[in-house]
Amino acid sequence: MTDVRLQRLIETAPALRVLTDAAELEHYGRDWTRRWQPAPLAIALPATVEEVQAIVRWANAERVALVPSGGRTGLSGGAVAANGELVLSLERMNRVLAFDAIDRVLTVQAGVVLEAVHNAAREHGLAYPVDYAARGSCSIGGNIATNAGGIRVIRYGNTREWIAGLKVVTGTGEVLELNRGLIKNSSGYDLRHLMIGSEGTLGIVVEAMLRLTEPPPPTQVMLLALPSFEALMQVFSIFRSRMTLEAFEFFTDRALRHVLAHGAQRPFDDEHPYYVVTEFAAADEHQQAVALEAFEACLTEGLVVDGAISQSDAQAAQLWRLREGITESLAPHKPYKNDVSVRISSMPAFLAETQALIEAGYPGVDVVWFGHIGDGNLHINVVPPEGMPQDVFVAQCEQVTDLLSGALARHGGSISAEHGIGLVKKPYLLDTRSEAEVALMRGIKRVLDPNGIMNPGKVFDA
Ligand code: FAD
Ligand code: MLT
Ligand code: ZN
Repeated sequence: MTDVRLQRLIETAPALRVLTDAAELEHYGRDWTRRWQPAPLAIALPATVEEVQAIVRWANAERVALVPSGGRTGLSGGAVAANGELVLSLERMNRVLAFDAIDRVLTVQAGVVLEAVHNAAREHGLAYPVDYAARGSCSIGGNIATNAGGIRVIRYGNTREWIAGLKVVTGTGEVLELNRGLIKNSSGYDLRHLMIGSEGTLGIVVEAMLRLTEPPPPTQVMLLALPSFEALMQVFSIFRSRMTLEAFEFFTDRALRHVLAHGAQRPFDDEHPYYVVTEFAAADEHQQAVALEAFEACLTEGLVVDGAISQSDAQAAQLWRLREGITESLAPHKPYKNDVSVRISSMPAFLAETQALIEAGYPGVDVVWFGHIGDGNLHINVVPPEGMPQDVFVAQCEQVTDLLSGALARHGGSISAEHGIGLVKKPYLLDTRSEAEVALMRGIKRVLDPNGIMNPGKVFDA
């Protein structure tokens, strides 16, 4: 290790694992965006809170930027290290620390993978309900830093709802224990919620107290084929009024084509413009009959043109794969991703405006729509035409995103529903948040990170 700054780091934390191999720098320096060339100084893999503190103090002394890093499944470039930063990976801090049956709280280190949290909750007869396709790789620290959403927000809310307490190392190296698992705590500003969704720009989450809940009731999964988006919104309204929905997700024929090309099985003989995967409580014959009646009513009205209902866990998984496989099937094409939200009531008007905008902005281009319709959250992915250089493609997409961002501002929506701002959506922050809000964010960052070492250049420029 020739860099004198790294030598001084090892002197202050002799047991700290530090990697500098080119392959490791490449591996830890990027997330799922694959747009920026990784160029970190090194990778630090602390095993204790004290080592995290030592790294932060060193970074302040040396003025080296830190990039907190979880599973690097992020889709907004938040964990990208392309400018000589030290990547601070939480991957070795991956232990479940405690479970309290009375509080129903699981305490974990930040590097625990989401699926391991699910498994630990299940072992105690309970559930941690935040869930989505990256469950096998994303970390709870990353989920907290992005306030991750996923496929069950319609029933259980975002990550924020499930955080009972946080242990955080701030940008000055101070350790804060926020909320300590309390349900009621009206003692001033709730700094826990400030940390949630801060994308590693204020400090490092090192531990979390997670609230657990009852396991979901037995469910069934239904796949629906629909003729139009208007029908889809009506079906959502009918289903929501009659059934307990655990998830209500949509995708288009173009999305299905990508998933099928990636090995999934075609669900229906005919092609249809829109599909819904919905999971709902089906604990007894009555609930199952109600769901079937809702489906038949929609079929009679012409709101639904085909459907399938799971009769086993394997069938449910097969239907879910059609929705959950979309991101992976698109990834090799390096799509330009939009992750926008509006209030559900604004959805029809926003959609009409957006669809017109997209059709005009990307004539003949493969634009793939999917998302969490019950949360007002649309993912609009644009697949680059074959052979188009990435910078030309991104510049073109950004012109359309400018217009999209304007439409969002008119409808009071957000340029990032759940993926975070990171680098990808930084140019559009001011269409979603006011100048005054961003000025306050900068002020807060100065207090918690006076030397600007925490993930600089992400969310906003200092
Ligand atoms: P990383 O990508 O490593 O980091 C994300 C951000 O968090 C970065 O800014 C990083 O600096 C910061 N960070 C990481 N760990 C810490 C820490 N301990 N302390 C402080 N800051 C930290 N997201 C959704 O919301 N909903 C979805 O449905 C969804 N589906 C996905 C499906 C797939 C297949 C993939 C690949 C991604 C999906 N994502 C989804 C995006 C991604 O999984 C989430 O953003 C996730 O929360 C990132 O976790 P991570 O551990 O991978 O974080
Ligand atoms: C999803 O809903 O599948 C995720 O947010 C991932 C994505 O947008 O690609
Ligand atoms: Zn999503």
